[in-house]
Amino acid sequence: MSDFKPGLEGVVAVETEIMEPDREGGTLRYRGIDVEPLIGRYPYENIWGLLVDNDLDSVMPQPEPYQPARLTGNAPSDLQAETARFSGEWKLGKLSEISDQQAREDLGRLSAQMMGIVARSARVADGHTEEVPESVVAKGTTAAEKFLLQWRGEADPKAVKAIDTYWICTAEHGLNASTFAARIVASTGADCGAALSSAVGALSGPLHGGAPAYVKPMLEEVAATGDPEKWVKDTLDAGKRIMGFGHRIYRAEDPRSRILKETARALGSPQIEIAERLEEAALAELERRHPERPLKTNVEYYSAVVLDIAEIPPPLAPAMFACSRVAGWSAHILEQKVTGRLFRPNARYVGPAPRSLATV
Ligand code: COA
Repeated sequence: MSDFKPGLEGVVAVETEIMEPDREGGTLRYRGIDVEPLIGRYPYENIWGLLVDNDLDSVMPQPEPYQPARLTGNAPSDLQAETARFSGEWKLGKLSEISDQQAREDLGRLSAQMMGIVARSARVADGHTEEVPESVVAKGTTAAEKFLLQWRGEADPKAVKAIDTYWICTAEHGLNASTFAARIVASTGADCGAALSSAVGALSGPLHGGAPAYVKPMLEEVAATGDPEKWVKDTLDAGKRIMGFGHRIYRAEDPRSRILKETARALGSPQIEIAERLEEAALAELERRHPERPLKTNVEYYSAVVLDIAEIPPPLAPAMFACSRVAGWSAHILEQKVTGRLFRPNARYVGPAPRSLATV
């Protein structure tokens, strides 16, 4: 028990063929394939196929007709609740009792629905009570286009490109907290709806998938002060973290951050200038304060800038992340079913020694 690692940092918990984060910050590879040249050539749904089926010509299926039970407009919570409901609605079989092929089918059906739930929840948050007619949504040719049509009834090409690129860049990233959660639940033999809804819950926290929600207000605050250097120093002096910096795995630039920064530039983001100024100031000050621990720009920083091009409201950011991650989660749930073993780590007891009730 002497090898206790808080947060399991550095502990190898599974072997995977899906992807390995490139710690040196060079390349983002899914199933061994560099993702950068795929952007613009294949839409997100083919990347889903690459991750889940190891086949770029396989695609995430089209969603089947389905009416969510009740949407509140809080997309992460709607997504978590509605995804869990599919276990009952569709009578999903337990992973321990169904074939690998059946699990793959369940994951495809669920993934396609999850995007639609987020789009509809965002529409409720915008104050609409009527859904966009199916005939309008059907005009979309890609998942990103359909997503925007289902949400807003229209799909601006720049917004489609921003969302598609963001989804591709964040589709999978090894054994992060949400993927681990999905694999833990899958390891018990639960159904795919239970595994995916657990992953959504894990992704909703600010230390994992929620950071973009904090980045946009941060950029606005910094732009208002006009002095990124001072803002960074004041923030760190107050003991706060700068959202969008630092990563448990990367000790160099996150390749996803580089790709998303280029996308933000290419799509003419109005925030790119202040984002680059803040990045420069933050990297310099973090390096000065933590020379022993490289704290670089992470995926969520430029994700926020790219999502802003599509006018994604910050509270929707975790659910947008969840939409992209359905691919990685599905691939891991399937891998867990095929090759995995029930997770059951140990805890070291550090509580009170045995004592009598009289001492309480
Ligand atoms: N801003 C300021 N300081 C930071 C920091 C940040 N973004 N990230 C880490 N640090 C500091 C911590 O304060 C800590 O300093 P200390 O040792 O003096 O207390 C040190 O770096 C190590 O922090 P720790 O939380 O142990 O690092 P980690 O590798 O476990 O954390 C993150 C990874 C992502 C949780 C962390 O970097 C973070 O909170 N980032 C901001 C949130 C974010 O961008 N999340 C999205 C991740 S993709």
